[in-house]
Amino acid sequence: MKFFLDTPDLNKIKEAIEYGVIDGITTNPSLIAKEGLIGEDNIYKRYMDICNLVDGPVSAEVISTNYKGMIEEGEKLASLHKNIVVKIPVIKDGIKAIKYLSAKGIKTNCTLIFTPGQALLAAKAGASYVSPFVGRLDDISQDGTKLVGQIVNMFSYYNFSTQVIAASLRSTLHIAKCIELGVHIATIPLETILALLNHPLTQAGLKQFLDDYHKVNN
Ligand code: E4P
Repeated sequence: MKFFLDTPDLNKIKEAIEYGVIDGITTNPSLIAKEGLIGEDNIYKRYMDICNLVDGPVSAEVISTNYKGMIEEGEKLASLHKNIVVKIPVIKDGIKAIKYLSAKGIKTNCTLIFTPGQALLAAKAGASYVSPFVGRLDDISQDGTKLVGQIVNMFSYYNFSTQVIAASLRSTLHIAKCIELGVHIATIPLETILALLNHPLTQAGLKQFLDDYHKVNN
């Protein structure tokens, strides 16, 4: 399973690269705003900086909600760097924009997916990736990982090349479930990736090894 880092924060990205476990990056307009990036020039420069750091797909989301705006923005974003993936919401004009951009060879990530039907439409339109939001479904007492499993199975038995990015992941349990389901990619904050290292027996075992060693090596 590939790991994408779910952030436009360059320091977090640099730290994650040092661990050698990052295959790509996802961003969204909320994360861009939280990072204090204002105006197209600054935002596009950040996408370029990320692409220069990470050798893998970098999802950059459109702000337009109509077809013309989305394809114009999508082409502009795609021209920034070969690794840019244009992120597009799963709405009517978005599906049309995915069809247009994918026919031009531009990679797309269809976002805000909450049902298998939305994922199917995105895949039929030619989306390279779909992003089902696990945590946001769990927040309203629905099973987010169940949706991810349904989409992974659907793409497998209909032979779609569209890959599933499990998004809105909030815990190591979400990641463990995604592994069981054969999810292609999980996009995660750095803190959650590092939490995978935590196990009390690892900590206790390491302490014991070092205590035993130092008992005879003063
Ligand atoms: C990534 O593609 C999504 O935009 C992101 O994972 C959403 O996460 P959130 O539900 O925690 O905001």
